[in-house]
Amino acid sequence: MEALKATGICHAYGQGGEKKTAVLKDFALELAPGAFEVLMGPSGSGKSTFLHLAAGLLTAESGQICIGGTDVTALGDGAAAKFRRRHVGVVFQSFNLLDALTVADNIVLPVKLDHGRPDAARLAVLVEKLGLAGKETRRPPELSGGERQRVAIARALFAEPDIILADEPTGNLDVAAAKDLCALLQSLNRDEKSAILLVTHDPVVAAAATRVHFLKNGKIAASFDTNHDPAAISAKYLETYR
Ligand SMILES: Nc1ncnc2c1ncn2[C@@H]1O[C@H](COP(=O)(O)OP(=O)(O)OP(=O)(O)O)[C@@H](O)[C@H]1O
Ligand SMILES: [Mg+2]
Repeated sequence: MEALKATGICHAYGQGGEKKTAVLKDFALELAPGAFEVLMGPSGSGKSTFLHLAAGLLTAESGQICIGGTDVTALGDGAAAKFRRRHVGVVFQSFNLLDALTVADNIVLPVKLDHGRPDAARLAVLVEKLGLAGKETRRPPELSGGERQRVAIARALFAEPDIILADEPTGNLDVAAAKDLCALLQSLNRDEKSAILLVTHDPVVAAAATRVHFLKNGKIAASFDTNHDPAAISAKYLETYR
């Protein structure tokens, strides 16, 4: 069963008398279990819109999104929220950590909201893998931007979701921290079961993934293997959007 399968997605913003502009038009995308793929496209092309739809934070006008074989577009609000906490991990810039909670409590929050008992061994493994050992009792304001981003990734991974949706996770990081985060995502993708769908403008970041999709005029205009080659990604990008 695909980690993610979106078909026939249409979405427009604007309500009431406002003129609606279609952002996604018959959009389709498929990720195999454990895949690590990238979604690219110019500013305003609809990348974040799709991630929000896939995360269940927005409802599509039409179309279907299946996560690990479950049609999330058919779930009611309550069931959708519960499903999301277990099966979808999000790393969004606007989806902040809670400053009042410690690093450890932020990481296990979705499981607690789900009335689950967080597995302490799982927490220890993730804290170690994400280089947060010794920082479990700190609060987000006492962490660097890169550390905060790693806490968000640990939180997203905790429940072993089918897919991690990450919207420009390297956006606020310097070049070295962005490079570290890419290497980390690659190793997490090898060790963990979750597929990763990453949105980025940076071809160097995109090259960490195995496949890239270009969004144009509301749908995927081109998809290809990255071969981990940033120069080839840049060249195809220019070709697609010139
Ligand atoms: N809440 C909203 N209400 C109205 N229009 C919106 C809303 N959110 C996004 N849009 C519009 O939808 C289009 C797609 O936005 P989206 O955020 O998905 O683009 P993006 O590809 O993520 O861009 P960026 O690379 O700048 O993050 C844009 O034209 C944007 O102005
Ligand atoms: Mg965006």
